[in-house]
Amino acid sequence: MDAQQIKQKFIQKFGESGSEPRVFHAPGRVNLIGEHIDYNGGYVLPAALEFGTTLIVREREDGVIRFASTNLPEEAEIKVDEIGLHKTGEWTDYPVGVMVELAKRGYPVSRGYELLYHGEIPNGAGLSSSASIEVVTGYALLTMGGFDRDTVEIALLSQAAENNFVGVNCGIMDQFAVANGKKDHAILLMCDTLEYKHVPFQTGSCKLVIGNTNKRRGLVDSKYNERREQCNTALEQLQGRKSDLKYLAELTPEQFEQYKDALTDETVANRARHVVEENARVLSSVEALSANDLREFGRLMNLSHDSLRDLYEVSCEELDVMVEEARKIPGTLGARMTGAGFGGCTVSLVHEDDVERFVREVGDRYKSRTGLQGEFYVCGVGEGVEELGGS
Ligand code: GLA
Repeated sequence: MDAQQIKQKFIQKFGESGSEPRVFHAPGRVNLIGEHIDYNGGYVLPAALEFGTTLIVREREDGVIRFASTNLPEEAEIKVDEIGLHKTGEWTDYPVGVMVELAKRGYPVSRGYELLYHGEIPNGAGLSSSASIEVVTGYALLTMGGFDRDTVEIALLSQAAENNFVGVNCGIMDQFAVANGKKDHAILLMCDTLEYKHVPFQTGSCKLVIGNTNKRRGLVDSKYNERREQCNTALEQLQGRKSDLKYLAELTPEQFEQYKDALTDETVANRARHVVEENARVLSSVEALSANDLREFGRLMNLSHDSLRDLYEVSCEELDVMVEEARKIPGTLGARMTGAGFGGCTVSLVHEDDVERFVREVGDRYKSRTGLQGEFYVCGVGEGVEELGGS
């Protein structure tokens, strides 16, 4: 559906009025490498996708906010002075949470709005459909209110909405990538300081292929929180040896070898080793990409997956099968799970001549081994949040 068609849906839903609705878009994201690093204060390398969430917004005079979606059945209608009271456990918690955080920061939503969301990102696939809804809402409401739109602030307040209102303890990576993406570039983000730079992501004759396992990410929240706690335990124990250590990802692999005997539990030590080595892999990836060495980047992607499977233990059978089958295709340079894990998507770098074969053969073998129908998206890197047809 293009913006014009979504606008028509908007008119069907909310009717005509004097003012013209405005159109905003925020992408989904894929993380290229640097998994489970954001809450450990290190480097991540995500990129914005070419598909995401489109939001059509129009002001209302009566202080009522109406939410609807073209792809989700739940709708909501709330009064501006009752925003924070409206928590339902449905998708509308994401935009409402953003409104609560905007108010905390001195940008209260004081007018009524009609908001129609059109989501192209499969829900629960680990491609940040929720971050996309949050960021597009924050950006649109600040724009409509005539305020400054600082995309780093928007990422932070969107993360806060997810942490405080929705109740998911995520890091900053997803919202940051969605808010600050740039076409044909990955984002090298330092999650402690939020310093970032856009790294050209030119894959030449290769394509990024995202593979959706269509395995629902069961238990992801509780396992995610458990991993965060294990990282905190590792940090506390390592601080006994290095008192100025603020985050696990500050350690180089050499320093980790030096201090690792402070870690008393093998599982906790494995989690910490993943973090330290994965962080180093992100920096090596940036070097490989700037030297146009896609083979090396692919090798690092493979190492990342193996570490998430064996040390961090956030993969699952479906992700492992898809990655294993992906690596059997001769034109695959690297394949790994992406996002939190326990289901969701893989990302592979595949030579363009082999993409068709990849989609067919990996799809067939994945289906015969798991009984699930995978889905594949061959996609480029898109823009971060923006107003379409606006300024
Ligand atoms: C989820 C979280 C992110 C990040 C990744 C793992 O996507 O929302 O903050 O921690 O998992 O890298």
